[in-house]
Amino acid sequence: MALKDFGENRQLEQFLLSRLAKREVTDLVHKYTKPYKELMAYYRCAMMEVSAKFNVLNEELSLQYDRNPIETIKTRLKSPESIVEKLQRRGYPLTVESIERNLNDVAGVRVICSYTSDIYMLAEAFVRQDDITLLARKDYIEDPKPNGYRSLHLIVAIPIFLHDEKRMMKVEVQFRTISMDFWASLEHKIRYKKGLPVVEEVEKELYECAIMSAELENRMERIQKLADQYRNTEKE
Ligand code: GTP
Ligand code: MG
Repeated sequence: MALKDFGENRQLEQFLLSRLAKREVTDLVHKYTKPYKELMAYYRCAMMEVSAKFNVLNEELSLQYDRNPIETIKTRLKSPESIVEKLQRRGYPLTVESIERNLNDVAGVRVICSYTSDIYMLAEAFVRQDDITLLARKDYIEDPKPNGYRSLHLIVAIPIFLHDEKRMMKVEVQFRTISMDFWASLEHKIRYKKGLPVVEEVEKELYECAIMSAELENRMERIQKLADQYRNTEKE
């Protein structure tokens, strides 16, 4: 009987905790609805500005290279649940100001390129633009994560022009090749943030696949360069 009670109490406790977490989220959203919605709209504008810049670069560079260096551009706005979770995890206050001050990845733009060389070319052209301020750069291509993750991450500040003010907004830009994105998307589904305990076989397999996909990509890039050389000699 005592054991059953204990089990029921635990269930009740967990139920209440989960309700509390959800209520905290809704309370936060209700209390700050207008400023929160405004801030999210600004982040959406910032993502539009960043996407537009990459569309312009893609258009211009495709004339020079006879191919599009960018495969796809994806944007994502961090969900309220993820925002609250990250602020709590890092011990920051749950306020709208705190979101803007402490989080760098509310607005995310992912630029998927064909080859690694395209990534560096695009990233350089992007940060050279005089309205872009580079706040942080993490090169997981030069220095992959121990699990094999590869990607170039930039945190930038970009101005958005509202009817009566100019506002600087932070955006996280992730550059990946098709093969880096293929690996990272599947690895994310399998493991990242899913609380999977460390299973050595899974880690090892994922790491080996990351190496294989990097090798495959290098070979494809060499083929592209070879093909370009032949095309150029034919033109001469
Ligand atoms: P987060 O708290 O996750 O935002 O990480 P961080 O602030 O330490 O920054 P980092 O630059 O390391 O990672 C930012 C983002 O890159 C993540 O939110 C993911 O989108 C992606 N990322 C980083 N590491 C991995 C990884 O090991 N696997 C996958 N699939 N994605 C990753
Ligand atoms: Mg993140």
